[in-house]
Amino acid sequence: MKILIIDDEKNIGVAIMGIVNDEGNISKHTLTFTEGMELLKEEMFDIVFLDIWLPDIDGMEGLKDIKRYYPEIEVVMISGHGTIENAVESIKYGAYDFLEKPLSLERIVMILKHLKDRSKLLKDLRNSKYNLIKKYNLIGVSQIVNRLKDKIDRVSNMNSFVLITGENGTGKEHVSRLIHMLGIYSDQPLVEINCSAVPSEFLERELFGYEQGAFKDATAEKKGMFELANGGTLFLDEIGDMDISTQVKLLKVLETGEFTPIGSNKVVKSNFRLICTTNKDMSIEIANKNFRADLFDKINIIPIEVPPLRERKEDIPYLVNYFLKSVTSLNSLVEKSLSNELMDMFMSYNFPGNVRQLKNIVERLAVLSDKEVIGVDDAPSIIINHNKGLNGITTYDKYSFTLKHAKDTFERDYFLNVLIENNWNIIKSATVLDIERTYLYKKIKSLGLDKNKNS
Ligand SMILES: Nc1ncnc2c1ncn2[C@@H]1O[C@H](COP(=O)(O)OP(=O)(O)OP(=O)(O)O)[C@@H](O)[C@H]1O
Ligand SMILES: [Mg+2]
Repeated sequence: MKILIIDDEKNIGVAIMGIVNDEGNISKHTLTFTEGMELLKEEMFDIVFLDIWLPDIDGMEGLKDIKRYYPEIEVVMISGHGTIENAVESIKYGAYDFLEKPLSLERIVMILKHLKDRSKLLKDLRNSKYNLIKKYNLIGVSQIVNRLKDKIDRVSNMNSFVLITGENGTGKEHVSRLIHMLGIYSDQPLVEINCSAVPSEFLERELFGYEQGAFKDATAEKKGMFELANGGTLFLDEIGDMDISTQVKLLKVLETGEFTPIGSNKVVKSNFRLICTTNKDMSIEIANKNFRADLFDKINIIPIEVPPLRERKEDIPYLVNYFLKSVTSLNSLVEKSLSNELMDMFMSYNFPGNVRQLKNIVERLAVLSDKEVIGVDDAPSIIINHNKGLNGITTYDKYSFTLKHAKDTFERDYFLNVLIENNWNIIKSATVLDIERTYLYKKIKSLGLDKNKNS
């Protein structure tokens, strides 16, 4: 740590310097406050030892000045006889502690130790927050991403409900975490649940919580997410998949700010900010009576749309390099890049699975290829086929294929695209294709499609 001592008694300065330097710190001493302030302007200090009785300023005023201009510097007051009361008062104005003359070696060492622990703690806290934000940084340079960033900045400091929409893998969850991290609630809990991944009965248990014995498996009382999110953010992922009866119950909670845990008769109040995501077209869901219009109006106060990657292709190189860097540094691999030719292929591909698909492809390439410049040879078939022209057949050799080969190639790419678009969700893909689930399984097998290799 770097320490400045401001005291008009030379031997006090020398004594403190001796002690703090022995403890492995760097220190400087000035005899007047004016000189001390000059030094603070030029160099960074962690701690100032400040005499209460100085020739050019009252130490208390000096303390206020330091705290006004350098609030992060910790100030320890040095008090002589008869100024103890002032020293105690100085704590009110932001001093960390005070020393009494004659100086005690142990006390100085102890103060230094406390300050060191405290500064490490604050640094760790700042770093962890910085790392989290860095992790959720929104990569991209397109106007679309820039506008998205502006909107996130504005929204994060309000407590209005937010609904994030967009295709699969566009970054909806990513955006919602950013809103929480950057916002006024960032130190408060972020409680999340995916509404499509769990049956509605289970979802309600999680949201409302329950009393012991409320149902067969309720062996102990459990707090609901509505309550856990109090003061923070409740994140409902894929709300478009929520059961209609759960929607009614959710709306009531949002309207009243109150709810009753299952099996309980006490009403619990909770105040949280709600962020929801969905990849469904909500106007269709409402028209089909799968989603309640009144709930939609309630949760859609601030709509944020995350556009598909094909509409912001200039982001592709930045995302590629970002994911390459993350995966190589995480796995201690040498730095890698894509050849220009392969990058061109990426740029012309539409990425039906959006950023997630791009991320998966890049991570696989980075791990599996031993080259530092990854070329077309390593490119996944879906990107090569796309770049060969319509359905994997180049115009040049169009007619050298048999009809069967052309049909097979088309079919394979067709199935693969639908699967990727739906994040390999079999139920959703089968619905889009309008075929039985069992038939889709068969096709995946016969066409040799593999989630881990082809997406
Ligand atoms: N602009 C971006 N910068 C960096 N990483 C991103 C960006 N957009 C998305 N990602 C990453 O891509 C992956 C997919 O994003 P995310 O899970 O947020 O998508 P989603 O829209 O919620 O998808 P789904 O609809 O399938 O739930 C995540 O690993 C996310 O961190
Ligand atoms: Mg998601």
